Amino acid sequence: MAPIIELKNVTKEFKVLNRREGLKGSLRDLFSRDYKTVRAVDNISMSIEQGEIIGYLGPNGAGKSTTIKMMTGVLEPTSGEITVDGTVPYYNRAKNAQKIGVVFGQRSQLWWALPLVESFKLLKDIYMIEDKPYKDMLALYQSLVDIEPLLHKTVRQMSLGQRTLSDILAAFLHDPKIVFLDEPTIGLDVSMKSKIRTLIHALNKEKNTTVILTTHDMGDVDALCRRIAIIDKGKMLYDNDIEHLKGFFGSYRTLKIRTDGDHKIQAEAIRAELPDFSVSADDEWISVLVDEDRQKVIDVLGQLQKSYDIRDMQLNEISTEEVIRKIYEEGVQ
Ligand SMILES: Nc1ncnc2c1ncn2[C@@H]1O[C@H](COP(=O)(O)OP(=O)(O)O)[C@@H](O)[C@H]1O
Ligand SMILES: [Mg+2]
Repeated sequence: MAPIIELKNVTKEFKVLNRREGLKGSLRDLFSRDYKTVRAVDNISMSIEQGEIIGYLGPNGAGKSTTIKMMTGVLEPTSGEITVDGTVPYYNRAKNAQKIGVVFGQRSQLWWALPLVESFKLLKDIYMIEDKPYKDMLALYQSLVDIEPLLHKTVRQMSLGQRTLSDILAAFLHDPKIVFLDEPTIGLDVSMKSKIRTLIHALNKEKNTTVILTTHDMGDVDALCRRIAIIDKGKMLYDNDIEHLKGFFGSYRTLKIRTDGDHKIQAEAIRAELPDFSVSADDEWISVLVDEDRQKVIDVLGQLQKSYDIRDMQLNEISTEEVIRKIYEEGVQ
């Protein structure tokens, strides 16, 4: 089968004004404009199959949102080609809109002053959804999350979590073939994140919807994505299964220890003591990434034991979080 989305050597450049400093500079800008070119997306090719959930990852400013805007037809590439389900999105925006749903985290696409159910009815008209599939979809939603109390709330009255949930439901309402989720879990608490992940997973399974997800939360990636594409400075660094990527770091282990002290403060001290290791901490664990080809875990543990009262420990494979951090820091070897 042909891929549902195909990008071929896609590049997007923006012309931005090189602003000069101070009043004199502003006056000069008025008369002679000095532009520079920013290459936000640099020769990216990618093909995505119907039903996949792909994690589109990269640091801030990497070019993720720009890529999504081109796939949704909002922006036209400077060069290269995109097809989305056989159409060129930026030449056929209306046609493309029928096939896609979009959620940009923190920027709701819904009508603020309307109860959610009224927004849904408007979307029903806009997308020309028939009564039966509309009713079926609402029934499916009700089976997945308790939407009844949300339906009669205005978006304005909702918490960020409820709003995100509503935005996602709205994006799937016309049963699009593809849904783009740009940082959907940003700012949400742990339980809401988990609810949203379960919902996205269920909708993908139920409707075989293709999902393009950008996120900084590796919990989202672990819960939802088998495949990840990583870009940095507009260039594609990696595009394959996450497990395949972890395979490059086969000799790495995450040593996790729990102590009675403040983990954040202790992690800071461990970082100073072991500058070659990547160390992170949360309430539950202090994690030290060890390359067993270079150092034995047992030796590292021995060294830590001298300075810290270790209550509990665990040894794990490298986590998604750590793999991605290493890729950002060092690239793919
Ligand atoms: N409309 C625009 N005009 C000029 N530069 C832009 C525009 N949109 C994005 N950029 C630049 O393109 C780069 C990629 O941005 P973006 O796609 O938003 O990154 P990401 O979503 O990965 O954080 C950044 O350097 C950003 O400043
Ligand atoms: Mg972005």
